[in-house]
Amino acid sequence: MKTTLAFDVYGTLVDPMGMSRLLEQDAGEQAAAVAGLWREKQLEFSFRKGLMRVYEDFGVCTRQALRYAMAVHQLELSKAREDQLMAAYLSLPAFDDALPALQALKGHYPLFAFSNGSYPALEKVLDHNNLLEQFDGLVSVDDIKSFKPDPAVYTHARRATGAWDSPLCLVSSNAWDVIGARAAGLSAIWVKRDENRVFEDWGIEPSAVIQSLSQLPESLKALNT
Ligand code: LAC
Repeated sequence: MKTTLAFDVYGTLVDPMGMSRLLEQDAGEQAAAVAGLWREKQLEFSFRKGLMRVYEDFGVCTRQALRYAMAVHQLELSKAREDQLMAAYLSLPAFDDALPALQALKGHYPLFAFSNGSYPALEKVLDHNNLLEQFDGLVSVDDIKSFKPDPAVYTHARRATGAWDSPLCLVSSNAWDVIGARAAGLSAIWVKRDENRVFEDWGIEPSAVIQSLSQLPESLKALNT
């Protein structure tokens, strides 16, 4: 039975740290630190809103996290500049391996993007990088108003991709996402681009680990999918 592939978007296909160059104008030498805290808080806010059941669009988490990261670094941000940075988030750069890997897999596996992002945000950022047309479809958590790693979100991905009775495999660079998917009964491949990245030791292992999306076709074959 054909395995359906569900690709995480932020951190896996497109790089949130791509914002650090733009932030140099606002934060100078602290730009990379602000970008890192921005991403960290964006995720934390989504986790907390999910647990609290006060769902808001992922874009709201992103905006609130940007304000927080700037405030922690005691930096000012005008409303106009905030809007500009939020707009730039919709054209984050893709990782170099993303497009060639999707092109190699297209036609061989059903391909979906599966993300905390809203549909309009996903369409924009994927289209900006020519990734949108590679997919058979998109799945946003917005459908069920919760966030990864709520198990309901991974179950929803099965329903939404049609992989209800067939295997569904998450592909993600985010260890917490891989653990969430595995805990919900999916296969999940961890993309460990950075050799210093640590996988949390929760006793829940990825189905496979790859260093680049270019290794995905081979890794899927080895998994016998
Ligand atoms: C995604 C982020 C949270 O779901 O990585 O795309």
